[in-house]
Amino acid sequence: MTVFRIQGGASLVGELEVPGSKNASLAILSAVLLGKGTTVLHNVPKVSDTLTKARLLTNFGAQVEWREGSLIVDSSTIHPGQADEETVRAIRTSFYLLGPLLARNGHAELPAPGGCKIGARPVDFHLKGLALLGADVVLEGGVYKATTRGLRGAEIYLDFPSAGATQHLMATATLADGVTVIQNAAVEPEVTALAAFLNRMGARIEGAGTSTVTITGVTSLDGCEFRVPSDRLQAGTYLAAAAITRGDITVRGILPDNQTALVNKLREAGARIDEGPDWVRVACDRRLKGIRVKTMPYPGFPTDMQQIMAAVLTLAEGTSVVEETIYESRIGHVAELNRMGAKMRVEGRATIIEGVPSLTGAAVEASDLRAGAALVLAGLAAEGTTLVKNVRYIDRGYENFEQTLTELGGRIERVEIGESEEARQLPE
Ligand code: EPU
Repeated sequence: MTVFRIQGGASLVGELEVPGSKNASLAILSAVLLGKGTTVLHNVPKVSDTLTKARLLTNFGAQVEWREGSLIVDSSTIHPGQADEETVRAIRTSFYLLGPLLARNGHAELPAPGGCKIGARPVDFHLKGLALLGADVVLEGGVYKATTRGLRGAEIYLDFPSAGATQHLMATATLADGVTVIQNAAVEPEVTALAAFLNRMGARIEGAGTSTVTITGVTSLDGCEFRVPSDRLQAGTYLAAAAITRGDITVRGILPDNQTALVNKLREAGARIDEGPDWVRVACDRRLKGIRVKTMPYPGFPTDMQQIMAAVLTLAEGTSVVEETIYESRIGHVAELNRMGAKMRVEGRATIIEGVPSLTGAAVEASDLRAGAALVLAGLAAEGTTLVKNVRYIDRGYENFEQTLTELGGRIERVEIGESEEARQLPE
């Protein structure tokens, strides 16, 4: 079993640049099939989710090659294909391939998607939107089967500003006949990045980054060259690492505007924040104080930073309340942090955290990607040795995580432990 073994106690100090955005890359790696040609994507992070997604594209006839840090996708010829069920189930965004495949081929089939287990994660907004665009989609034996006699522009109102539904429907509508307007669209930076990518391919999208996105259909899209913007969630994780270890970290090559909610909350808790045009610095030389945090769609506090922020607040003075409003069960970190000496309890959608002066290393298990990152950060701040299991979840979204943390002064290594050691470390 592969684990992270962490020797806690060191303050993390230094500067870094983060890789490209996982979530923007995953959305782009669905939309890329819309283009009849070769696309060169720079700055795609090599994390397990993007590797899986790139592999999935080959099921539909795309030629995919990683070359010197870039990903080259030739989608000149696409066929409906037979998607590998295990691969599809490994990631949520496999489902966003349905619309682009339908737009290219007139029919498409995809097994129902998977992804991190953090709540129900239905796809009803996607299905309603696709139906409005002229698709017939049925679920048969766990497989979504979609056909169309021609996609057409439509007015689509989303009941919630879902990032995935906005991205999927926006991409599909680029090849529909006429104008599509998506109301109550998500305004996440990853939506804006996808629109920039699609426009580079020849699409006509306006308003991405606002709650009304207008897409004027075109007859075909080409390949293009595009650089994926940096990952705001990896950036936020390292900024949080500075706060929890009483360190001093500067993340460069990012848009500070994308970190507004996080840095304001860290500042409110007592961390020092400096910002420049493309960098953010978090420094902390004292114990933070407890605060209230509530997740909201962008530009609100990101749900993807909720578990990580909760880990930071376990060591703050006083009581914190962290409320999760996006997912119903993003709480896999709570029991594990309590094993390390945190005092957290879940009440409905809120996690109440009574701050403790120190955490103690323990063997803990990541339940999902961000819970895993939260446990690593807690381990870096804890006294003694922490063993974080289920590293595969963390590998979904953090590139060179342990190397980067080591460069910042963290004592973390990826190790294989044998069955006997594993048994000793397992929770009773
Ligand atoms: N929702 C529905 N019906 C739908 C679609 C969404 O009810 O058809 C609900 C979801 O269940 C959730 C809310 O709407 O309660 C928001 O979900 P959204 O569609 O915005 O999430 P997503 O597109 O599936 C992306 C990220 C997540 C991130 C969310 C929210 C990717 C690959 N994933 O998911 O990232 O938490 O947006 O910002 O882009 C992560 O990186 O750790 C991660 C889970």
